[in-house]
Amino acid sequence: MRVLSGIQPSGRFHWGNYFGAIQQYIALQGNEQSFYFIADLHALTTVRDAKQLTENTWDAAVELLALGLNPDQATLFRQSDVPEVTELVWILLTVTQFSLLEKCTSYKDKIAKGIPPDAGLFTYPALMAADILLYDTDVVPVGSDQIQHLEVTRDIAQRFNSIYGGEFLHLPTASVLKVGAKVPGIDGEKMSKSYGNAIEIFEAEKPLRKKIMSIKTDSLPLEAPKNPDTCSVFALYQLFATQEQQMQLAERYRAGGMGYGEAKQAVFEAAMEYFAVARAKRQELAANPELIESILEAGAKKARAKAREVLQRLRDACGLGRKRL
Ligand code: ADP
Ligand code: TRP
Repeated sequence: MRVLSGIQPSGRFHWGNYFGAIQQYIALQGNEQSFYFIADLHALTTVRDAKQLTENTWDAAVELLALGLNPDQATLFRQSDVPEVTELVWILLTVTQFSLLEKCTSYKDKIAKGIPPDAGLFTYPALMAADILLYDTDVVPVGSDQIQHLEVTRDIAQRFNSIYGGEFLHLPTASVLKVGAKVPGIDGEKMSKSYGNAIEIFEAEKPLRKKIMSIKTDSLPLEAPKNPDTCSVFALYQLFATQEQQMQLAERYRAGGMGYGEAKQAVFEAAMEYFAVARAKRQELAANPELIESILEAGAKKARAKAREVLQRLRDACGLGRKRL
């Protein structure tokens, strides 16, 4: 079974990305054949600065590896290192109904946020379909916001197969990542790069502490009993703490006499401890750029071998590049 997923290098990864996605990708790497890539071609729709995109892509690779992605088990690569995907997206676009893309809510959501409504943004789901179909993927772990794109992928594949009369494209299924793990940001809303409320996993210690101390709470006085179930500080603490630690802090909330500052300090300490190994690993990896590059190159080589095989099958199916002898 082949598992594949991609993540956009549109900024430094935050706690929401980790608990909502990365942690679960990493959990899947052991028992499956797994392909993970950094979707730099997709990021071109929003990151329009060469240096920034290169940096982000690099950071994404380093961070995924530091967080536990094991290149001996999983194939990690940069999307743009497999140019076959750009040929496939064109082939797919020729069988993609405009109305199918028009139905995608992510396009509307993104333009509502002020992202330029370029054709690349509109056809973004077709590139995602190409990413998935290029490797005969069986399962795609994604967040709930991406399920519609999996449906689009299946629709496009079915249409191609029906037009060309064969099972040329393999239909994938979505594996929806655990829901309920909506991580709140420092303002209490869903944590997101684009809302300016994110806490980055590898933030330096001082600014990390400052961010945690700025998490929005109600203004109950120190002595008042507090409700852990409606408090973002407590929700964040739950990500890092054991059941027992969570119960202890919840009791202190309800008893009163504890200020939010103390709870925030507990979040800071728990987060530092939780990511201690990853932070040390990140430093080590960042000091060894050749190693990162060689992992990405080896990953691309492996991914490309599969991509070439599938693309050749599709070129044959639609009569591209065949000699008329
Ligand atoms: P952002 O909203 O910061 O731009 P992305 O859309 O790039 O994040 O998300 C990448 C992955 O991280 C998605 O699969 C998504 O499910 C997950 N994710 C992002 N933010 C959160 C959050 N606050 N809580 C849980 N999961 C999240
Ligand atoms: N669209 C995904 C996101 O924004 C990233 C992505 C690109 C992806 N290609 C993919 C995810 C293929 C899974 C499979 O999160």
